[in-house]
Amino acid sequence: MKMWTKLPRVVLGKGLKGRILALPLAKNRGRARKMVGKTPIEKDFYKGKFRMIEYKNKIIIAVGVSGKSDARNFGALAWDAVNAFMGPVKFHLIPDFLPEEAVLEGALLSSYKFSRYFSKKKEEPWIVFHGSERARENALIKARATFIARDITNEPPNAVYPESLAEISQKLFEETNVEVEIHSYEWLKQNGFGGIVAVGKGSEKKPCMIVMKYLPRKSAKPVLLVGKGVTFDSGGIHLKPTGFIETMKTDMGGGAAVIGSIYGISKLGLRRNVVGIVPVVENMPSGEATKPGDVVKMFNKKTVEVWNTDAEGRLILADALAYGIKKFKPDAALDLATLTGACVIALGERVAGVMSRSGKLVEELHSAGKKVEEEIWELPMTGHYAEAIRSDVADVRNCAEKGYGGAIVAAKFLENFARGDWAHIDMAGPGNSKSSWLWHPKGGTGFGTRLVIEWVKSHSQ
Ligand code: BES
Ligand code: ZN
Ligand code: ZN
Repeated sequence: MKMWTKLPRVVLGKGLKGRILALPLAKNRGRARKMVGKTPIEKDFYKGKFRMIEYKNKIIIAVGVSGKSDARNFGALAWDAVNAFMGPVKFHLIPDFLPEEAVLEGALLSSYKFSRYFSKKKEEPWIVFHGSERARENALIKARATFIARDITNEPPNAVYPESLAEISQKLFEETNVEVEIHSYEWLKQNGFGGIVAVGKGSEKKPCMIVMKYLPRKSAKPVLLVGKGVTFDSGGIHLKPTGFIETMKTDMGGGAAVIGSIYGISKLGLRRNVVGIVPVVENMPSGEATKPGDVVKMFNKKTVEVWNTDAEGRLILADALAYGIKKFKPDAALDLATLTGACVIALGERVAGVMSRSGKLVEELHSAGKKVEEEIWELPMTGHYAEAIRSDVADVRNCAEKGYGGAIVAAKFLENFARGDWAHIDMAGPGNSKSSWLWHPKGGTGFGTRLVIEWVKSHSQ
């Protein structure tokens, strides 16, 4: 990566001295309420609208909030208002009665714009944050981690492909306490990674596997994070049609979240051992590509009939999960992947599916998601779903011939390759957004990054 997207400048301030002040405006509390007085305001104002008000030579950006849960949204709206109506000015971001870290996080996340390839750059506002140094530092780290994931996802596929993503990761973690290992295509072939090889071999850009180790504690089991790293999913021989193929540069959103979250976890200095694995491939059709009907032997020695070459994510995740669990004996494993269109149909574009046999993991992930406002919802893992992927010629087939519940069927496939506590997050919906909403930009959202950081923080080992 030549350059990561920059975060706005943030300095600390206090009092009400500035000229442009962004403040939350609630029905009957806070500083802005006193300034504004009883100004009548439309009914739905407290659901995320704002007003610009002149007050004693100042401009007050009063953002309607209904309570503490609007902290991120307040920050995001304040940023958007200043950016849209005032341009590159200095403004005071005053959390007042709202949780300060979340307020700054919202503003920073909303400031993201993937503008690396525009020849003209736009100048942006900067922030005087009325909060603690600690809140400033934490919000900056989490936003930086999310920006990393968004940048990786948004980069075009001629910039981010297996070898370049490996280099980007190595560079990113230089001079940090995260150790990065890259396993080459040759190494993957020699060591029996049949799934990764099957998906990656059709491309001129051969696959690899990124392993990131953050082990600040001497004798604790790590948590394992595995992320789908398909830098472009053409579908392979099952080539995707127009209308479906165009956004498939974002098919490494899960891998990007793993890289981003490990960056965040290490910079926050969390006392948790974490190993991240991202199998990276480009799924392409060619004379050397895997064909429908091919049978491949996976890392854990199980055989798979490749029914559909577009169900490639699960093949690379299966190998990475089996390897990671065998090698690092994690306390819990979590994979994140833009895995199925079926999950988008089931839950929509803003909610990810979580599938696990461990109620404890689901609960932990769900409450972490709630905290950071990255929503996940559980789908069942009942045994009968596995009937759809019985094969006539191999241990298992990589997808169903037809039928519903495709997100769950994919998870049942992965279950063949996991041991112990394991959860799967299908983020095909929220990983990439067709339009911007709240603090999520259009394009790669970095979904999963803050969720994983929060989960690792809270996970009881
Ligand atoms: N990368 C896609 C899933 C996807 C779809 C992500 C839409 C984001 C938005 C995945 O590799 C895929 O193609 N899955 C197939 C599976 C099918 C062949 C069983 C799908 O969902 O159609
Ligand atoms: Zn696919
Ligand atoms: Zn895919």
